[in-house]
Amino acid sequence: MIAPSILSADFARLGDEIRAVAGEGDTRADWVHVDVMDAHFVPNLTLGLPVVQSLIKATDVPIDCHLMIENPDKWAIGYAEAGAYNVTVHVEAAHDPVALAKNLRAAGAKAGLSIKPNTPIEDHLDTLKHYDTLLVMSVEPGFGGQSFIEGVLDKVRTARRLVDTGHLKLVVEIDGGINADTIERAAEAGVDCFVAGSAVYGAEDPGKAVAALREQAAR
Ligand code: DX5
Ligand code: ZN
Repeated sequence: MIAPSILSADFARLGDEIRAVAGEGDTRADWVHVDVMDAHFVPNLTLGLPVVQSLIKATDVPIDCHLMIENPDKWAIGYAEAGAYNVTVHVEAAHDPVALAKNLRAAGAKAGLSIKPNTPIEDHLDTLKHYDTLLVMSVEPGFGGQSFIEGVLDKVRTARRLVDTGHLKLVVEIDGGINADTIERAAEAGVDCFVAGSAVYGAEDPGKAVAALREQAAR
């Protein structure tokens, strides 16, 4: 699956930018990834619930919310209630991630857990039993256009093994530095869903970029 991140889109034309990856066939995104940043958990500020509510109304592509915020225990539920398909919180920020996952699911969303590049996956395996998606960060969260951190592929392999052996039931998602050069290695390591910001919205035709990434991932 390919999930374009609108962090690299033109924020004055978000509806058009999403429509550019919401066509038919190969050029259609599986999810649209929306990066919510609060200038506390990460040193950047983007958008919040009112914008996400409007985006959900503007498209039928499932919205994948990546909350890079403090105290997601309080704020994440709003995104689930708004109709986001998947709501991802950071394990480094959540106070009670198990309760949080239950609340997200009760509100009708998939529950996602994200881990930063230096956070080991092994410490959170029990927590992950309560989640539907695992978002492995392959850059330090906060900004688009950074270089892929190869070292995180070991975590992807671990997650893949745990899913394939039935110990966990997760969609394995990767976020940061995914492009034509890196997507094949990430696919080989076992990623199910690839977030790509600059590789999609930096391209002349975002829909074609989605199709090209999907083809490269399948090689
Ligand atoms: C970074 C965000 C990413 C970002 C990825 O903190 O979580 O979703 O948009 O951008 P690229 O694909 O350009 O690395
Ligand atoms: Zn993201």
